[in-house]
Amino acid sequence: MTKKLYIKTYGCQMNVYDSERMAEVMAPEGYALVETPEAADVVVLNTCHIREKAAEKVYSDIGRLKVLRDERLRGERAGGDLVLAVGGCVGQAEGAEIMQRAPAVDMVFGPQTYHRLPKMVIAARDARALHGKARVIDTEFPAEEKFDHLPSPRGSGGPAAFLTIQEGCDKFCTFCVVPYTRGAEFSRPVEKIVAEAEKLAAVGVVELTLLGQNVNAYHGVGLDGGDWSLARLMARLGEVPGIARIRYTTSHPRDMGDDLIAAHGELAACMPYLHLPVQSGSDRVLAAMNRGHTAESYRDIIARLRALRPDLAVSSDFIVGFPGETDDDFEATMQLIRDVGFSQAYSFKYSPRPGTPASDMADQVPEEVKDARLQALQTLLFEQQKAFNVASVGQVMAVLLERVGRFEGQLIGRSPYMQAVNVDCGAAAADVIGRIAMVEILSGEPHSLKGRLATDQAA
Ligand code: SAH
Ligand code: SF4
Ligand code: F3S
Repeated sequence: MTKKLYIKTYGCQMNVYDSERMAEVMAPEGYALVETPEAADVVVLNTCHIREKAAEKVYSDIGRLKVLRDERLRGERAGGDLVLAVGGCVGQAEGAEIMQRAPAVDMVFGPQTYHRLPKMVIAARDARALHGKARVIDTEFPAEEKFDHLPSPRGSGGPAAFLTIQEGCDKFCTFCVVPYTRGAEFSRPVEKIVAEAEKLAAVGVVELTLLGQNVNAYHGVGLDGGDWSLARLMARLGEVPGIARIRYTTSHPRDMGDDLIAAHGELAACMPYLHLPVQSGSDRVLAAMNRGHTAESYRDIIARLRALRPDLAVSSDFIVGFPGETDDDFEATMQLIRDVGFSQAYSFKYSPRPGTPASDMADQVPEEVKDARLQALQTLLFEQQKAFNVASVGQVMAVLLERVGRFEGQLIGRSPYMQAVNVDCGAAAADVIGRIAMVEILSGEPHSLKGRLATDQAA
């Protein structure tokens, strides 16, 4: 391979998956991945539009890359012409605006068109050669399925892999851009997903994380031609030789069907960890968010899951300072956190997004109120996360050892509950990497655990 590609990934795991696919689409064209934009012929920013900060970061990165691109263009720096592309959700949401605001950008594309990346790069190069500048925009939602045009994944090398099974969202929460950037909900057929899982297993993948913006709304064409739910799909994937663990993210409380809840009790491969965003503990706020669930229905789902899997670790997303959120509403969120108990969580200040209904709502919450609420909420969540990790000390857990750590003989893995575990494996490290091993947990830090290989390896 002679040409070099640099991809920077922002945002969620679906973007991580997409970036891997982009690299695979470009490989047959002779592009190898490099670690820095300086070393690249083509730079792709795979962007995120979810909050204002995420989107603004892209523009500041473009500013820095413009300097590099100009220096290369003027021959002040080796490497020749550099093609600068913006893909992902900012590309989708602000395609034309990017071209206007940032003339250094040669190409803009969205999450649904990156299988056409090689063609776009050629078009951009031709336009640059002819007119001195390029403006290639491809932000359609093509009717044809992008997945049909992607090479099959080779796996990123490790034993844990992402597999996108569903895309888009029809929920239209009033704060969220995803239905606009990713389009309508779409589920891949079971057959395609199973084939991809088999290929991943063949290259050593042990753990699958099934991805979708609304992954438990999955309803793909099943092997019998009928509509299959996520639970049925997971049961089938659990039969793929080599696949020992299955996770899924991100799910919506409204789509936690009975069979999916049951799967947490019945399916051995289904890990005892669930990321289930609740956003708020106030029914008034949840209604204004158009979430379609209440605090009570959320508590009920967790209670049913824990009745089947008492050790289930629960994670969530929270938004503080949604328009109209009062102190009482916020306190209801804090109470929900105390009641449920989370092993980890992500929390954000509400960020008004152009084109979403909430951005026009009256009663926007002042920034300093958002700051104070976020701090109180994160303090509580951090206490819960620390307590959860400390409670793991002394346990012997099955840990998937994913990669080498910083020290000799140390491997880094994941517990069934998604905790990062630093494991002292000594001389056995080379033998156990990529495998699931029993690990005795020796200490619990706020963000990780430490352990050593247990003497008894029987799982
Ligand atoms: N599909 C997932 C989440 C997608 S976005 C779901 O339905 O839960 C990831 C998280 O970003 C959301 O759960 C939400 O907590 C947060 N988020 C989305 N839009 C936001 C906004 N405008 N301001 C602040 N946080 C937001
Ligand atoms: Fe956004 Fe709501 Fe859809 Fe999640 S369910 S992606 S928060 S609109
Ligand atoms: Fe961001 Fe798009 Fe994911 S907006 S969170 S990268 S779906």
